Amino acid sequence: MCGIVAYIGQNEAFPVLIKGLQLLEYRGYDSTGVATLNGTLNLYKQKGKVQDLLNFTANKKTDGTVGIGHTRWATHGQPDNQNAHPHVSHSGRLSLVHNGIIENYATLKTALQNKGYHFSSQTDTEVLAHLIEDIQTEQLVPLDEAVRLALQQVRGSYAIVIMDKDDKTRLIAARKSSPLAIGICKNGEFIVASDAMPIVEYTNDIIYLDDEEIALIDLINGLKITTLDNKSVALNIQRVDLSPEMFGKGKFDTYMLKEIYEQPSVLRSMINARLDPQYRILFDELLPHMDKFLKARRIIITACGTSWHAGLVAKYLFENLARITVDVEYASEFRYRNPVLFPDDIVIAISQSGETADTLAAIELVKEQGIFTYSLVNAVGSSIARLTDAVSYLHVGPEIGVASTKAFTGQVTLLSLLAIHLGYMGGKIPTQQYTELSKELEKLPQILAKTLICNAQTQKIAYLLKNHKNALYLGRGYNFPVALEGALKLKEISYIHAEGYPAAEMKHGPIALIDENMPLVVLATNESQKEKIASNMHEIKARKGIIIAIVDEHDTQITQIADYVIVVPAIAEPFSPIVSVIPLQLLSYHTAVALRCNVDQPRNLAKSVTVE
Ligand code: F6R
Repeated sequence: MCGIVAYIGQNEAFPVLIKGLQLLEYRGYDSTGVATLNGTLNLYKQKGKVQDLLNFTANKKTDGTVGIGHTRWATHGQPDNQNAHPHVSHSGRLSLVHNGIIENYATLKTALQNKGYHFSSQTDTEVLAHLIEDIQTEQLVPLDEAVRLALQQVRGSYAIVIMDKDDKTRLIAARKSSPLAIGICKNGEFIVASDAMPIVEYTNDIIYLDDEEIALIDLINGLKITTLDNKSVALNIQRVDLSPEMFGKGKFDTYMLKEIYEQPSVLRSMINARLDPQYRILFDELLPHMDKFLKARRIIITACGTSWHAGLVAKYLFENLARITVDVEYASEFRYRNPVLFPDDIVIAISQSGETADTLAAIELVKEQGIFTYSLVNAVGSSIARLTDAVSYLHVGPEIGVASTKAFTGQVTLLSLLAIHLGYMGGKIPTQQYTELSKELEKLPQILAKTLICNAQTQKIAYLLKNHKNALYLGRGYNFPVALEGALKLKEISYIHAEGYPAAEMKHGPIALIDENMPLVVLATNESQKEKIASNMHEIKARKGIIIAIVDEHDTQITQIADYVIVVPAIAEPFSPIVSVIPLQLLSYHTAVALRCNVDQPRNLAKSVTVE
């Protein structure tokens, strides 16, 4: 939540900041601000998107070779010009951008107010600007030392960059529980950002700051990193494998549609990299830990949102194919519940961004108890990936549309591979079935490409759905988590209220909602549950509900009961979620477009939820 970017070098900072903010807009988009320095401070803040700021600054002075920028997702104080970042210290000397929450801001604020400091916003961030300046002037210490002493008083999370009006050769950056990366360019420039996206146009050499680290970025003396307790840190420069083309929309109008259409190709790359010519599944990163997996008493999967839904599919996969007990936990509940954990448990975090605050905290909790942790993450070098004992990357490319699509199918595909692998290694899947399942997965990308043909049909049905205020999504077995995911996709981008249920649970309450105005999306692709699903559908029809059924190409039975049908190719049942979610992604997409909603940046949401 919130994106920050900063530049220091020989070139103009403003265009770098604006471009960077546009790439970080997925992290929050309720207000934007920049400050550049050229003798005087050019500070501009605007409610709204980066484009609004750009329009506002069109004829204004923006020059300077050092600057900081911010795109906000409001936590403390409503989205307006006053609360937008950068925030400026009492004397106007320091300006600061912040991502995170200062939990003890109220106490710090009162202390500063008692000393005569005046606050011009309702944010927690402004406290930092005044506090740093207070220490700097009272203790007569350099800025980096003042930052260190100030952060020692702070509870909460932060990624910050600070600029001093009187020194255009330095920036100070620091982080705790909110991400921050520093790009190191060959020509001596530095770009600091919440993730690698704004950086890779200029350099692929990146340092990811660790928690409680402070970077002194000095144009003359280079980069120096120290910890909050003033120990020097060796520079760990990583070469990231990302290119600016990956961040465009290509031929598509929106990131979401592009990412939906990318699914066959990104999953082809994943599967090809994980299968050898004999169809054996490769998890080299888990080789040193295989014994732990095979002896695990239980796997606990922890995640949020769509990633939690992928975890729920994994419960079916791991229990059916590997016969391992799996619990799936919302990270936000798990971390505060004092859960009972056993030394031979394994905890798996699933996260696209690798930065979700609750998932990160859940992993910190179990690590303190010495439990083995493993993560499935998309964003390389992210906090969760670095914290867990082992990580498997999805490598599905940057996901920028706020509604998760290719990350979900990437997670479920990787979890399918892992379930088969563990099943085979643990002697629960015979060799022949192992090879058959691997071969079936190899066909998945081709099947997904065929699935996308349903786009036209989903677009037609979206015209029906858009006129309704509510929708129910029903599925059984492997398709129950897909029903939850379909409902989440619809509500988050089209703002139509939708709920997912196990189809048989309908009788225990939700059936009361069904009448001729209630559309129900019924997932009916799993062969083993078809009879049961058909009975549920008859119950709906008896109450005049409108049924939109997702069926596979061999179906004859469900098609006769449903009002509308979306046909997808058939695939072995354990992998059916990866196929049946595609029409649901498209259905929500077209409904949101028909309602003229902003599908890539839905209201109130942000892509990376770094606050709890
Ligand atoms: C929904 C969506 C969210 C995320 C959730 C977790 O489309 O994207 O529900 O899945 O915020 O995010 P990650 O996977 O980054 O931990």
